[in-house]
Amino acid sequence: MSQFDSIHSVKNNFAKNNPTYLKGMFGTTEVMPLWIADMDFEIAKPIQEALQKLVTRNIYAYEFNTGDVFKAISDWNFKRHQLVLNPKSFVQVSGVLTGIGVLIRELSKKGDSIMVQTPVYHQFFKVIESAGRKVVRNKLKVIDGRYEMDFEDIERKFKTLNIKSMILCNPHNPVGRVWSKEELQKLVNLANEYNVTIISDEIHSDIVYLASKFNSIASINNNENHIAVIGSPAKTFGMQSISNGYLYISNDNFKKQVKTTVESLYLDHGNILSANATIAAYTKGEKWLDDLLVYLETTMNWIENYVQKELPEVVMYKPEGTYQVWLDFSRLKLSDKALKHVIVNQAKLALTPGDWFEGSHTQFMRMNIASPLSKIKQAFNQLKQALSDGIDCSFNEEESTENCCSC
Ligand SMILES: Cc1ncc(COP(=O)(O)O)c(C=O)c1O
Repeated sequence: MSQFDSIHSVKNNFAKNNPTYLKGMFGTTEVMPLWIADMDFEIAKPIQEALQKLVTRNIYAYEFNTGDVFKAISDWNFKRHQLVLNPKSFVQVSGVLTGIGVLIRELSKKGDSIMVQTPVYHQFFKVIESAGRKVVRNKLKVIDGRYEMDFEDIERKFKTLNIKSMILCNPHNPVGRVWSKEELQKLVNLANEYNVTIISDEIHSDIVYLASKFNSIASINNNENHIAVIGSPAKTFGMQSISNGYLYISNDNFKKQVKTTVESLYLDHGNILSANATIAAYTKGEKWLDDLLVYLETTMNWIENYVQKELPEVVMYKPEGTYQVWLDFSRLKLSDKALKHVIVNQAKLALTPGDWFEGSHTQFMRMNIASPLSKIKQAFNQLKQALSDGIDCSFNEEESTENCCSC
């Protein structure tokens, strides 16, 4: 039995189980929550110990520890990805989206355009639009069952739409691509030519499966004015509610500019629980992560096999990285409302609706699989049963008010 097989009993207040959210998003609380991209697993022992050490003191006087954190992140990236990062080039922020929000404001003004590659993590739209900037979509193309970048469209839009910056998602949420060195080099060359700064969100960088290799944009030959990386231990170590984000900017002047802004907003304070948990994760969490990756890959292979055999009309995009599975249900030929009804009310699954990631993806769903395999098997059995039952008679296309995708 693996440590990741245990079904934990702690439930109540996680966002994914929150009855108000479930009711608001899915119209019911009677669903298995596989939507938010976090883990059902207990964090690694060294992180638990680091946190417990602090908690038992019962004193929370001011205490800062960012320097050691940056060294731990650099050492980790060298060991895991052969990536050389200068600990002096980091800026701490409270989270990845905070960092992206700051960078967007530094790199553009209101009304300017920022590119994203759709379908993509839905909060990117909010972080751009809430800053008064415009979202420009560069749609990913599916070629031979795999998502690819559309470089012609990127160049056309860089050339004509006065794009100041682009948010790259690597590995890509929700389609699971881990971008190759060649793809990244091509992108960087275009960004250099058209003076576009790439903000590379690498929060999923450590969740990469055996056949793939993660390449940070920071490892690509570039004119260093045109890159800002942002990462965090959140996804890697299941620290979503206790981690900070880390900007990495190798251009010294740009880094100083961003740091000044971050400090002026006091976004760099963080807290000692997060700092020590991060250091413990990156210095002592490697074995746990290796075990986790084996577990997730086993789960992914199980799903691939199950979908092929039992759900041949469902298309699964097997991820190269991330613990998200992107599923296409369009071959079932159900209306959008009927599909939601079958998944939510009959299969009783809370999956992330595809149109969150791009409006047109109403026939797609993203499933978070960072759960015990027994739970994932149960989810797929429920799905199979619901699809083979067909749409139940309580469903009425006209009257259906299910609206889980519009929130
Ligand atoms: C690509 C990506 N970036 C950022 C985040 C959120 O990061 P944070 O909570 O640190 O803002 C997520 C969470 O799912 C994500 O998938």
